Amino acid sequence: MLKILTIIGARPQIIKAAALSRVIRNGFAGRIMEKILHTGQHYDSNMSQVFFDELGIPQPDYNLHVGSGSHGEQTAKMIAGIEKVLQAEHFDALVVYGDTNSTLAGAVAACKLHVPVVHVEAGLRSFNMTMPEEQNRIVCDHLSSLLFAPTETAMENLRHEGFMDSKAVFANGRGRQVYNSGDIMYDNSLYFARIAAEKTTVLKDNALEPDRYVLATIHRDNNTDDPHRLTSIFKALLQISEDCAVALPLHPRTAKLLETNLEKELHEMLLHSNVRIVPPVSFLEMTALEQNACMVLTDSGGVQKEAFFFARPCVIMRPETEWVEIVEQGAGIIADADSDRIIGAYNVFKNKKLNLKPVFGDGNASTIIAEKMLACI
Ligand code: UD1
Ligand code: UDP
Repeated sequence: MLKILTIIGARPQIIKAAALSRVIRNGFAGRIMEKILHTGQHYDSNMSQVFFDELGIPQPDYNLHVGSGSHGEQTAKMIAGIEKVLQAEHFDALVVYGDTNSTLAGAVAACKLHVPVVHVEAGLRSFNMTMPEEQNRIVCDHLSSLLFAPTETAMENLRHEGFMDSKAVFANGRGRQVYNSGDIMYDNSLYFARIAAEKTTVLKDNALEPDRYVLATIHRDNNTDDPHRLTSIFKALLQISEDCAVALPLHPRTAKLLETNLEKELHEMLLHSNVRIVPPVSFLEMTALEQNACMVLTDSGGVQKEAFFFARPCVIMRPETEWVEIVEQGAGIIADADSDRIIGAYNVFKNKKLNLKPVFGDGNASTIIAEKMLACI
């Protein structure tokens, strides 16, 4: 029996972990035993508990309740907490997702204690070293012995950085192993698409009509923390809302910074506009919003991909993206936080039909990951 510890902390990780957890329970119950550690990085009910309730993930075996803080303070508390758990209980491997501070903490704590690290969503690169996520994912990739890349581009990035013929040897005496598993988020979008359409009332509740609204999300620190960028994004959303309703489930980080970092006049206009600001929604509600939006505007990594899964065009409100396939296929336009570019991209996509090639695997990433873990650790 392979005993693994899954580290989660931020919203997208809880969602990603749901896919592997489901496959382990349904197909690998006698061969893999999973325990879950929640760092407590995200703690509001609509950023954490809602996903356990809705996606059927078992409650965490451990919760560190670390909460918010500066990068150093938050990550340090997580490392110390995870280390204690790894010292108290034996695990054959530790599984981390993505690129948050919880990911970094899990990788550091485990590698130092000679517990093999499995990194799901390895090999992504924005090549923007000012992004905390870029720092986290690079360190995590290097500390991991088993890496699962979601795309060929991610595989190529790892190849360029020498991961495929790396001389690194880990505590279990094995070298590094890298596989393209496909994207684990695609597993979830396929699995929950029909359930979301049947079970949610989020469109009706917010007076949104299918194909008659755009869906927006904003939470990236360089957008929320910079008053010029935040103002520029909201100017664009306000202008778009004169043409089409804008549904905006707001991340708590953005909600907290909106009053201080948005021009007062703009803030007042926002309150009387067709921009429907709602608290963070559940995964099923988000899936329904994505499936029915005519377009998605976002700085989120996960939401860019989900827009692609549901063949919705995506305006990427970042200076670059790790998910270059979306742009290469004409399904995404990088508009940064520039009002004119965001509105320009909105106009390009307004009546555009997409014809997409699948690039994120076949929706079986979790099974591939579970099988490879059994074979490789
Ligand atoms: C984190 C990740 C980011 C990921 C995002 C997913 C890092 C460095 N960043 O960013 O990669 O895309 O999660 O959503 O790990 N807050 C609340 N309630 C909560 C959680 C956060 O109010 O439940 C507020 C706090 O004011 C906090 C701020 O949001 O200071 C930022 O939270 P934090 O977890 O530090 O980073 P995110 O911006 O959420
Ligand atoms: N999401 C959600 N409710 C929301 C916003 C996002 O369930 O109100 C989901 C979304 O469907 C995706 C994930 O959260 O699966 C993306 O997380 P986020 O945008 O916070 O982080 P990122 O992917 O940028 O790291």
